Amino acid sequence: MMAWFLIFASFSAVYSYSPLNYTEIMSRLLHLNATCPFLRLSSSQTDFNLPSPEDCHECLTPILTISNSNGSVPQIYFSGCLHGNERLGPVVLAELAEFLCSNYDTNSWIKRLVDTRLIIMTPMTNAQGYYRNQREESVGGRLYDTNRDFAYMIKGECFKTITAKTVEKIFEKYLIRTSITFHGGDASISYPWGAPDHKKDEKSTEAPDHAAADSIAKAILEFSQADLGVGPMTDKVYDVTGGMEDWAYAGGWENSVNPEKPITNCSEFSNSNPEGLKQLMFLVEADNDKSPDTERYGHKSQVLSSEQGGLIPQFIRMSLGLIDLAKPYILADIVTIENGIRVDWTVWGCITVDYTQVFYGKYTETLYEEIIKDSSKSISLLKKTKNRGGKCRWGGMTEFSEEIITEEDVIVVISAKVDSNWLKQNKPDPNVPPQSHIVNSRTKQHYKVSNKNYSIDESSFFFSSALKSDLNSTGPADKDKKFEGSFQWNALYLVILIIGIISGLLYIAAKKYFYQPLSQQEEIEL
Ligand SMILES: *[C@@H]1O[C@H](CO)[C@@H](O)[C@H](O)[C@H]1NC(C)=O
Ligand SMILES: *[C@@H]1O[C@H](CO)[C@@H](O)[C@H](O)[C@H]1NC(C)=O
Ligand SMILES: *[C@@H]1O[C@H](CO)[C@@H](O)[C@H](O)[C@H]1NC(C)=O
Ligand SMILES: *[C@@H]1O[C@H](CO)[C@@H](O)[C@H](O)[C@H]1NC(C)=O
Ligand SMILES: *[C@@H]1O[C@H](CO)[C@@H](O)[C@H](O)[C@H]1NC(C)=O
Ligand SMILES: *[C@@H]1O[C@H](CO)[C@@H](O)[C@H](O)[C@H]1NC(C)=O
Repeated sequence: MMAWFLIFASFSAVYSYSPLNYTEIMSRLLHLNATCPFLRLSSSQTDFNLPSPEDCHECLTPILTISNSNGSVPQIYFSGCLHGNERLGPVVLAELAEFLCSNYDTNSWIKRLVDTRLIIMTPMTNAQGYYRNQREESVGGRLYDTNRDFAYMIKGECFKTITAKTVEKIFEKYLIRTSITFHGGDASISYPWGAPDHKKDEKSTEAPDHAAADSIAKAILEFSQADLGVGPMTDKVYDVTGGMEDWAYAGGWENSVNPEKPITNCSEFSNSNPEGLKQLMFLVEADNDKSPDTERYGHKSQVLSSEQGGLIPQFIRMSLGLIDLAKPYILADIVTIENGIRVDWTVWGCITVDYTQVFYGKYTETLYEEIIKDSSKSISLLKKTKNRGGKCRWGGMTEFSEEIITEEDVIVVISAKVDSNWLKQNKPDPNVPPQSHIVNSRTKQHYKVSNKNYSIDESSFFFSSALKSDLNSTGPADKDKKFEGSFQWNALYLVILIIGIISGLLYIAAKKYFYQPLSQQEEIEL
């Protein structure tokens, strides 16, 4: 009995998710910082010279960046908590970071996400609140609700808390395309609007980016398998003034089109990077219980399995879906067939394929180099297959395939255009086209914005990497590839299982061979 208990305990201690407090999350993050080559841990105290929150034993507000690219790759932001007594989000993000680090080498999808995205997280945005398990942040003895502390429809005071100042500094520095802010106490995923200036008959009016927000929310919810409702914030939660979400979405553009001018230059705030405030931000009320029971947290093996699993796996999946959706891309594979090649491909990072086609030409080194340099210029030199529409990975995933008859090796590049239905509007309020980076970077023929250190430079018509056939080989030739594997049972799991079994067997053996019953006398003394 004891042996099996030991095996079970060692197994579940490492492989089950469980609640973590401030100290435990900090020590996890420090460990990841020391062991994970593409993760960097800093804090708003070191990065932005902000003071530590009060009454928190000099606690820091941790900031994580995860990326294996140093260029201007698409940026996604996650906030673990604005309310410190909503306990799930910080654990989701600490475990998401751990998941990305430990699956990078074995899962090609995870590797691709880390190699082509910049993920920015504040797992404990309200560090003091999380430390003290309290909703608000106290400043000078006064309690502030941090999600009423942003410069949206607020007169006078805002950015009083270290929480809001941290977020403001991050949004000033980066050009985030899309984001999730985790909360608790309800069960929904919601999107703009969520403030009284865009409310009619107790419901949100239509945000200009409504079509995209609704389709992304539904897609990542489906992948997460979480039991949540979907809709605008005002409908699903309630409307607030000073909320982070509407500010993150509209702070960069709304004053110039809305006579009510909801964005204010309140205390401590000046908006030096309006481009940082054009995000599609999702408010996730992760669970009706702000501090769910440990049994509901779930298990590491559930993250990429097809079962729903516990709460942490559900929200890790939701986050992975959003990271993927930040930018569309094509995965392709060339297979040699009897009289030529077959090109197989799928389109990721999007929901609907408007059209896609294969461009190809006789392989020469010069052509190959030209295509790598600039596909859009060199495709005029190539033949093409017919245009086809379908679904991306996040809308059902059409598996596209074209056969090309050829006796000579060819070079292949695939193009696509996606998600133009994100431009659909009924009665947008205010009456402007979609404003967010995530919509414009894939629907505008050319979209270019920049701030001090980053830029977004995308075209609606985009390409796969260039592939070369290899007719003399029988297997798949050049591969950009389907993703390999899903969740890998990693080496640590096996080691722990083996140690568990060996120690169990040793325990049984030791008990059998060395245990001598004590005399009655001795037993009583014990
Ligand atoms: C977190 O829990 C550990 C015990 O697991 C305890 O030592 C520590 O003081 C706790 N930290 C906070 C901030 O509550
Ligand atoms: C994280 O690691 C880097 C070195 O890789 C170090 O400079 C930095 O101080 C570490 N962060 C923290 C918070 O310890
Ligand atoms: C990014 O890193 C690579 C090597 O890892 C280097 O060759 C390249 O110059 C770097 N680019 C920038 C923009 O720093
Ligand atoms: C831009 O990058 C440089 C070098 O990494 C850094 O010193 C500077 O603070 C950054 N600027 C902003 C606005 O983040
Ligand atoms: C806020 O102040 C900054 C700097 O003073 C100014 O550039 C910006 O236009 C102001 N923004 C608004 C919305 O008034
Ligand atoms: C395949 O191999 C044969 C013999 O080595 C060679 O003559 C031919 O050119 C090759 N074909 C291609 C398409 O590379």
